[in-house]
Amino acid sequence: MCESRNSFPGVFIQAFRWNWMFARVLAFALVAALGSANAQTVPATMTDQEIENNVRQLLARMTLAEKLGQLQQVEGTWAGGVRPEQVELARKGLLGSAIFVHGAARTTELQRVAMTQSKLKIPILFAFDVIHGYRTIFPVPLGEAASWDSGVVERADGIAASEASAAGIRWTFAPMVDIARDPRWGRIVEGSGEDPFLGAAMAAAAVRGFQGTNYGCSGKVLACAKHFVAYGAAEGGRDYNNSEVSERTLREIYFPPFKSAVDAGAGSVMSAFEDLDGIPCTANSFLLTEVLRHEWHFKGIVISDWNAVDELISHGVAANGHDAAALALSAGVDVDMVSRLFSQYGEQLVAERKVPEATIDRAAGRVLFAKYKLDLFAHPYADESVEKATLLSAANRATARELAARTFVLLKNDHITLPLSNRLKSMAVIGPLADDAQSMIGPWSGDGRPNDAVTLLAGIRAKVPQAKILYAKGCDVSGDSRVGFKQAIKAASKSDFTILAVGESADMSGEATSRSSLDLPGQQLALVQAIHALGKPYAVVLMNGRPLSIDWIATNSPAVLETWFAGTEGGNAIADTLFGDADPGGKLPVTFPRSAGQTPIYYNHKNTGRPPGTNKDFSGYRDIPWTSLYSFGYGLSYAQFKISNLQLSAARIQRDGTVTIGVDVENTGDRPGDEVVQLYIHDLVASVTRPVEALKGFERVSMQPGQSRHVEFRLGPQKLGFYNQAMRFVVEPGRFGVMVSDNSQDGLKSNFEVIP
Ligand code: NOJ
Repeated sequence: MCESRNSFPGVFIQAFRWNWMFARVLAFALVAALGSANAQTVPATMTDQEIENNVRQLLARMTLAEKLGQLQQVEGTWAGGVRPEQVELARKGLLGSAIFVHGAARTTELQRVAMTQSKLKIPILFAFDVIHGYRTIFPVPLGEAASWDSGVVERADGIAASEASAAGIRWTFAPMVDIARDPRWGRIVEGSGEDPFLGAAMAAAAVRGFQGTNYGCSGKVLACAKHFVAYGAAEGGRDYNNSEVSERTLREIYFPPFKSAVDAGAGSVMSAFEDLDGIPCTANSFLLTEVLRHEWHFKGIVISDWNAVDELISHGVAANGHDAAALALSAGVDVDMVSRLFSQYGEQLVAERKVPEATIDRAAGRVLFAKYKLDLFAHPYADESVEKATLLSAANRATARELAARTFVLLKNDHITLPLSNRLKSMAVIGPLADDAQSMIGPWSGDGRPNDAVTLLAGIRAKVPQAKILYAKGCDVSGDSRVGFKQAIKAASKSDFTILAVGESADMSGEATSRSSLDLPGQQLALVQAIHALGKPYAVVLMNGRPLSIDWIATNSPAVLETWFAGTEGGNAIADTLFGDADPGGKLPVTFPRSAGQTPIYYNHKNTGRPPGTNKDFSGYRDIPWTSLYSFGYGLSYAQFKISNLQLSAARIQRDGTVTIGVDVENTGDRPGDEVVQLYIHDLVASVTRPVEALKGFERVSMQPGQSRHVEFRLGPQKLGFYNQAMRFVVEPGRFGVMVSDNSQDGLKSNFEVIP
């Protein structure tokens, strides 16, 4: 059954208490009044068995071309409109799904063609990249991961789903669950960072948010875990580039968030663009069939990435479209995103016996299953009035503001520079991102609109209306001009405090936005240095979609707050945090390097034969330290915390046993605040090398001054095991180091033994 977003069940239950007959009459009356157009209130009622029967019967009535039509996804216009080709295909019953067409009116326009003019009246499934919000935009996923709070992801994606579905979208190409260890890769912004454990937790939360317990329920959308797999391992951090990843690293690092999404019930998975160890993922039957279907028992839809079937030709594994379609279908791709090759060559491939018709039936069956489950046959249309009431509602905005503040990471706060007093008389707000609404909503911002967004400047003005605010852009994000410096220096000179908003513009993150340098682009560092030279108090607010190498700022600036791209309510949320109405309790989900030359860089690395400090010729660099600038898991708070009293429930456990790790956490400061307690393990000696540490538990706690809490984690075989030389998942006897801390670098340590 589904939870309802309106008062219908409440009314019904109340009525039921009065009189059963009356309740029935009321229920029918309500359903009738709401009408078939309003899918928002109708619970999913069919069992999976009933859906499968329907699918079987429908497939029996379909021609091969119609089945192939279900495997075809065709794009609308970039602006979200319908294209004539889509109308034509819909009329012929050959358009299984559409991408980019969004909005209740536009989806209805195309859907009406399928539902009234096609022979079989199979509804179109509308898909869109709803990555961190549909109209109300939440922080970018990397920022959401920085909350170390899966509730943030689940709530944000829940609202994204309700807005998207109100606009006719029932399939989102999210969550992006790629592990990324290389910040040169611009798509690092779309995922949860570098760690498989944190990534797996966020992946499951996102699926729960988008799909709920049943994606057929009102306000829910089909999720898609993408991009399967190791897309983030692109060589040189260059988007779309090949990746070379061992099966062990796939299983230990890149697979876990996908497995977690599948276990959480994700309805679809997208095959990645890249060539993985010589076999493009879109033609990779090991990934798409052996692992996904046979090992993980995934039952949903596998869709290719955009034109990735056709790109098998560029990869050089297919000579032409015919062969590309054969490779992708045989490997396990069900739906072809936009290349149109399944439709073009499917019948020929079946006639030539290169692809069995059963493969097409299975793939089409999966698409039809999703359509039944989504209740699209009964409720194919979105309702403009529901859309209007849902999008960018005051409640959604309020949640966006609350959640955004949970994603910020306080990197530095010398002499308690922050939080600011709201009695400040004058402030300068400086920097190219201070009033940049487009960047605030970040890349992949669905139907988000800059005009809806609150910039940092607007947020500060609203927060301290009595203060005199001087704004100066100073310079652009990129480029050589320092013309604006003079005005910026003047504004800072005249003000009691300066906020400097620097980083990257939103279009520097996302797809095809790799950078070879991680330094602040353009003249921004020089701008910070010019303000710094005034010797007056200031704080740096970073906005960016990737770790930046900000060595100078980290060393010299008094306070640094990382805010990612914080979404529609970003400016308000940052102002809340700067003025202490919210605590910056987030932690880094990804390592910040000192220089791009250190990348790929990640905390859970192997020891090497020559770890630092053990040898003159150790594994490091001649010109810079080998360590990161800010490590994974790092972040301060306005409060002070003490983690103490590390206790293990056992000194020894069996291989299949469990040990409980407990600590006490106390807020020793004088403000309420948040801490993220993190558990790391190190398998000290094993038959294959193990990372020097690996996250195995975390909990974000909010605590009042003087408050203490006990936090516990459990370690069992799932967390202690690894893939041995035979690629079997095992727990090996031996000693395990344990660290509990508020970061990945140092903390309370102990150990225990796994006995044979
Ligand atoms: C290409 C991207 O790689 C993918 O993430 C996205 O879902 C599709 N384009 C559709 O926009």
